[in-house]
Amino acid sequence: MDEDVPVITIDGPAAAGKGTVARLVAGQLGFRLLDSGFLYRRAALATIAGGADSGNADDVVAAIAAIDWDAGCDEQRLRSEAVGAAASQLAALAPVRRELVAVQRRFRTAPGLVADGRDMGTVIFPDAFLKIFMVADLAERARRRLRQYPGLGMDECLAALRERDEADRGRPVAPLRPAEDAVQLDSTGLDAQSVAERIVDLCRQADPGRFKVE
Ligand code: C5P
Repeated sequence: MDEDVPVITIDGPAAAGKGTVARLVAGQLGFRLLDSGFLYRRAALATIAGGADSGNADDVVAAIAAIDWDAGCDEQRLRSEAVGAAASQLAALAPVRRELVAVQRRFRTAPGLVADGRDMGTVIFPDAFLKIFMVADLAERARRRLRQYPGLGMDECLAALRERDEADRGRPVAPLRPAEDAVQLDSTGLDAQSVAERIVDLCRQADPGRFKVE
């Protein structure tokens, strides 16, 4: 791991707006982006496509080994709550998480990285320069998810998000929780741009030399 390369981590529950905000912050700072949920979703797609069981660590690890990370995939399906649920199931397996540690750390290249997920600040980049834990009301998260990926009813979407958050919080390995040194941001009622600006401001406050005010 290149400790000199600054990392900003954005963790939090499903559909809290982490992905959109992470993209904006990375764009503003000229940093690289890691959407770690994509890796778990891609692993779920590969497992399902091979007819294997998302709850079986050996099957999932074998499916991950066969993934061509450069190949495209069905984005609509990848982002569905069904694939999210399968991703959450295999993400609870320690051997599966171990398999993805190095893949994620390889994203840390100059001039910097913005990484979003569940355990970016707690496990993958514990020495991150700035750690954000992003939350939002469940109802607002469900509305955002439905706007992006229509297909479920509101009640179904609420139930799916609630179930996935509980599974992610309750698992013994790398559970969803704020790092001790994380700043909590509530994005309820805020647009992604203002949340991203707040994060860039926090970077400037922490290190005015590196993050110059234009
Ligand atoms: O963020 P996204 O909703 O795409 O993630 C899908 C699932 O992948 C999550 O519900 C979680 O179980 C798992 N995940 C994880 N650790 C990460 C990112 C995602 O366990 N760093």
